[in-house]
Amino acid sequence: MSAVKRYLSSSIGKKQIIAASGFLLIVYVVLHLIGNLLIFAGPDAFNGYTEKLHSLGLVLRLIEFGLASVFVIHIGFTAKVVMENRWARSERYNVSDASETRSFAAKMMAYSGSLILLFLFFHLADFTFADPYSQASEIRDINFGLYGLVYNSFLNPVRSIFYILVMVAVGLHVSHSAQSLVQTFGLMPAKYKPLIRRCSIGLGIVVTVLFSSIPIYIMIHRNFWSFFN
Ligand code: HEM
Repeated sequence: MSAVKRYLSSSIGKKQIIAASGFLLIVYVVLHLIGNLLIFAGPDAFNGYTEKLHSLGLVLRLIEFGLASVFVIHIGFTAKVVMENRWARSERYNVSDASETRSFAAKMMAYSGSLILLFLFFHLADFTFADPYSQASEIRDINFGLYGLVYNSFLNPVRSIFYILVMVAVGLHVSHSAQSLVQTFGLMPAKYKPLIRRCSIGLGIVVTVLFSSIPIYIMIHRNFWSFFN
């Protein structure tokens, strides 16, 4: 067996691949969040940013391909480790695990991960594969491109509530994976564990609150802004 194969089939190898791909996905989520917050700066700022991204052409296609590959690797290796752990546990039936001491976010990892995967199909259909210059992007008869598409999409309360629930799942997933990947790579001495835990939870909360603020802002803007002006 080659060294690479041996590494990929070892328990630590699989954990490190999950942690490294998870890290890249967290970086993507944070960058995506920063870009999306430009919605608060108005249509010109948000559309200007997305047009700049799209003008990257082939480079953007390569980044998207890389991102999709990282997603597939992360999900594939995670599914493999979960199955192997289940088999190992059923062989050692009734051996109690440490589930009692695991945090809520840790216990929810499989559920939050599955919900995020399901969300991505709807999300890509909503914004990536939709036409940003159709009637769906019009606000009071003016076409606002991708900004208008996002704005109009969140006028639907069912979609907005679904997004907010998913953002809670994203925050939980990020908060557990950030601390877990620091441990997997042994990046910090054990005495910093409580600090890393607090920072990871903080990152998860920031991700949930800031992403959720977008649909919340749009619903308030549309329904109540006229009362404030
Ligand atoms: C309120 C929350 C969110 C909003 C408003 C939002 C908005 C958008 C928009 C407008 C696009 C299309 C970008 C373009 O065509 O230039 C997009 C693409 C995408 N989003 Fe989100 N997003 C949100 C949350 C998320 C989350 C939490 C994830 C990951 C877990 C995510 C993953 C993606 C991916 C993978 C793409 C495709 C990227 C590409 O094709 O380049 N989004 N999002």
